[in-house]
Amino acid sequence: MFHRGRRLRGTAVLREMTRETRLHPSQLIMPYFVQEGADAPEKTPIAAMPGQFRYSLRGLAAAAAADAGLGVRSCLLFGIPQKKDAAGGGAYAASGIVQQAVKLLKDTLPDLFVVTDVCLCEYTDHGHCGLVDDNGSVLNDPSLELLARTALSHAEAGADMVAPSDMMDGRIGVIRTALDENGFASLPVMSYAAKYASAYYGPFREAAGSAPRFGDRKSYQMDPANRREALREIAADLEEGADIIMVKPAGPFLDVIREARDTFDAPLAAYQVSGEYTLIKSAGELGRIDENAAALESLVGIRRAGADLVISYFTRDLLRQGLL
Ligand code: PBG
Ligand code: ZN
Repeated sequence: MFHRGRRLRGTAVLREMTRETRLHPSQLIMPYFVQEGADAPEKTPIAAMPGQFRYSLRGLAAAAAADAGLGVRSCLLFGIPQKKDAAGGGAYAASGIVQQAVKLLKDTLPDLFVVTDVCLCEYTDHGHCGLVDDNGSVLNDPSLELLARTALSHAEAGADMVAPSDMMDGRIGVIRTALDENGFASLPVMSYAAKYASAYYGPFREAAGSAPRFGDRKSYQMDPANRREALREIAADLEEGADIIMVKPAGPFLDVIREARDTFDAPLAAYQVSGEYTLIKSAGELGRIDENAAALESLVGIRRAGADLVISYFTRDLLRQGLL
């Protein structure tokens, strides 16, 4: 007698009955880029990310409405300001581009769950995620107050959740305190807890114009070789009050996702980043891979590794085609 594993693979219905991992629209978050400027075009294609756009405020409202009609339930907002400065002032301006976008989305689509990325790199002229000193070092503690102001300004604009992505030490605690002291004790924080210094962010940095002008992010983002360090980062963020933890990127770090799932009880998100998207998308466009099948396989793999939520640029495409 040998094991007849094929008995459970004979029909689509049976395969679905015995499927261990499912993908549901409620588990997916769609990222959007919103560009400041009254004369910004409604949507500008992002060359490095085929099928993704930089939207004006109007363009964003239209795209988000269409996507909500397809079944997109939540989104993650990134802002592209008109002006950048050394201290990233646009990140925490009450009338900043993300703050305006949040207000507009919550006014027009109250049921859409709006998450904001909290960081300074899109808003600083040097492109780093915190303040920089004369020697080019990225300063940790002086950056915390600005990150807290950014998160608070997003909350005041009406964001449903804030997601700090800067990787400064101590930011979750400082943000949690700022929210609590200003009437936002109920607002959840999703921490980019284990965020690696990854080559896979390249297309995003082109999209957001946020590549560092000098140096790199290795003094604050994690070394991709490290697994145990991710557990320390996540534990610290939970201690400081994170509600949802995140591993980023997703595909190259499935072991870290699994380890985080097995170690911590908190909801776990994974970010399938721009480079992961572009690899599949570009190979699909060249006819070298079945884009939809590869996209679905990558997402189910991230879920199987243990992620509860996945941030993915494929969310809209897959919903539009009825594949989720
Ligand atoms: C900002 C931020 C980045 C991403 C999310 N938030 C870029 C970076 O850290 O350089 C990357 C997302 C992606 O590549 O899709 N800190
Ligand atoms: Zn950043």
